[in-house]
Amino acid sequence: MRVLNYGSLNMDYVYTVDHMIREGETQSSLKLETFCGGKGLNQSIAMARAGVPVYHAGIVGEDGDMLLKACRDNGVDISHVKKLPVKGGHTVIQVDKEGQNSIILYGGTNQMQSREDVDRVLNDFEAGDYLLLQNEINLLDYIIDKAYAKGMKIVLNPSPCNEKLLRCDLQKISLFLLNEIEGQQMAGDADEDAILEHLAEKFPGAAFVLTLGKAGAVYYDGKEKIFQNIFKVQTVDTTAAGDTFTGYFMASFMRGEGVRKALCIAAKASAIAVSKAGAVPSIPTIEEVEKAVL
Ligand code: RIB
Repeated sequence: MRVLNYGSLNMDYVYTVDHMIREGETQSSLKLETFCGGKGLNQSIAMARAGVPVYHAGIVGEDGDMLLKACRDNGVDISHVKKLPVKGGHTVIQVDKEGQNSIILYGGTNQMQSREDVDRVLNDFEAGDYLLLQNEINLLDYIIDKAYAKGMKIVLNPSPCNEKLLRCDLQKISLFLLNEIEGQQMAGDADEDAILEHLAEKFPGAAFVLTLGKAGAVYYDGKEKIFQNIFKVQTVDTTAAGDTFTGYFMASFMRGEGVRKALCIAAKASAIAVSKAGAVPSIPTIEEVEKAVL
């Protein structure tokens, strides 16, 4: 059983600002930093740092060497990552004094997957392998259909939650990992219990991990609910905290450690990520997580 993460790779241009920019305002940033990111890449690196071998598939642009190096340095298999001679995916991220962020995403090469690319990648995987997806690449609907037909187990982080997801047959997903905003968007409800009930009714074949910000996280499979509190830390930058949670949950879950342990280690790892700047640089290694006293 292997895990393939078919997802985005972005260069993140992170501007530290006094406050989130307002309409019509010009504001000088206090600092500019460039980090490797992208929900896909962050989640692959989180899984790898959590100790699980991971295959990443996707497309970088002419500016993507740093992204490929980050994958290689962390032991992520990139034999299914292609490079095109055009502008790659990137973001403009504002981080304010409280460590909260807002992100403008330019899809670039993340939106250039062809059906032939997908067929070629999935050809190398088989029934029982896991496929992890987010919503920052094109052809998500096609990837889901093809992987499901092969018998792969599909895990979706429906982020960002937008109209593209409506084209996907989400009945083919076996596990959703989502935050409270995505939960509200998908369920049309604001209350945590209502979100979970609604989703479980809509997708009876799936289980859910709903992260609730400061209120922690909850797992629900339609029968049992398991709660996890957050580990409190000083917030520096929340970028990639959700991706760290996803990668660590997946790694522990795939090792068969059970949901309780997977939630706990994911919460701890994402707390460490929140206490550091940037996407990839903030993702802890398993050794760091194990020895952290939070
Ligand atoms: O989830 C954080 C990520 O979202 C950032 O690294 C950025 O690239 C955006 O995709």
